[in-house]
Amino acid sequence: LPTRVLHWLLAGSFVGAFGAAVLLPKTHPAFPIHMLLGVTAALVVVLRILWGFVGTRYARFRSFPLGPRALVRHLKTFTTGRDDGHVGHDPFASWAALAMLASVLGVAVTGAMCVAVPSMRRVHHLFAYGAVALIAVHVVGVVLSTLRRRENLALGMLDGKKMVTAGQGLPSTRPIAALFFVALIAAAVFELVGTYDAANRAVRLPLIGQVRLRPWGKRHVARVALPPRDRD
Ligand code: HEM
Ligand code: HEM
Repeated sequence: LPTRVLHWLLAGSFVGAFGAAVLLPKTHPAFPIHMLLGVTAALVVVLRILWGFVGTRYARFRSFPLGPRALVRHLKTFTTGRDDGHVGHDPFASWAALAMLASVLGVAVTGAMCVAVPSMRRVHHLFAYGAVALIAVHVVGVVLSTLRRRENLALGMLDGKKMVTAGQGLPSTRPIAALFFVALIAAAVFELVGTYDAANRAVRLPLIGQVRLRPWGKRHVARVALPPRDRD
């Protein structure tokens, strides 16, 4: 359950952040929603990384088949149409999952940086569109795997069910851990929204203090006419 809950919270916050960024003008009063959703996505990634160390069998990074041998074996079975019997992520999905988690974190960090350093905007855009490309590959991969395995993987990501042989299932859905993650994310979002000062477009972050979300680019810098003597 924590893996599924974190997946859909990540997908929702990422798509929401991207949608808000491309649909809203940066001077729009609602643009900070973009940042809020982006920070939420980053928090979800941090919790998923934590879950990758202390979580259930197939959610742990240690169980991800990342080695070159597993990759070559999977490539062979993949091209011959056979199944090499991975219960958790297969090697492609494991690499894709790590790449997506890292790229979402990269997008959020560069986004937070471009609030203070306008030259980071290009880097932030690059990371954002790179992450979107990876996610598009991910969704195509899910559709192809679903067709090849004749098993609805997206549904499995909702109801937690997957076809496995006896003994390979998990003994518990770990609802308490899922609830803990949701409560933590809800508290963080509530806290951020609560500290938002609309007049100054600023939020108060723990340890950092007040962060003003403006200005962020030369397009928004006011032009001031100087008297001729001062132009030199
Ligand atoms: C229509 C949208 C989506 C569908 C149907 C979908 C479906 C899935 C499925 C079925 C898996 C499990 C793959 C497996 O069995 O190996 C998965 C994993 C994953 N997906 Fe998606 N996904 C979607 C959107 C997204 C988006 C937008 C993101 C990123 C922002 C994302 C990030 C991930 C990650 C990081 C994993 C690894 C899960 C983990 O181990 O925690 N997905 N997705
Ligand atoms: C992780 C999810 C995020 C995604 C997918 C994302 C995506 C984007 C995209 C595509 C743009 C360009 C919009 C355009 O020019 O049309 C943008 C702009 C921006 N983002 Fe993000 N972003 C994310 C997170 C963040 C975070 C966490 C922050 C800050 C805390 C942030 C701050 C900004 C700012 C200030 C701009 C405007 C920069 C400019 O003037 O071009 N973003 N974002």
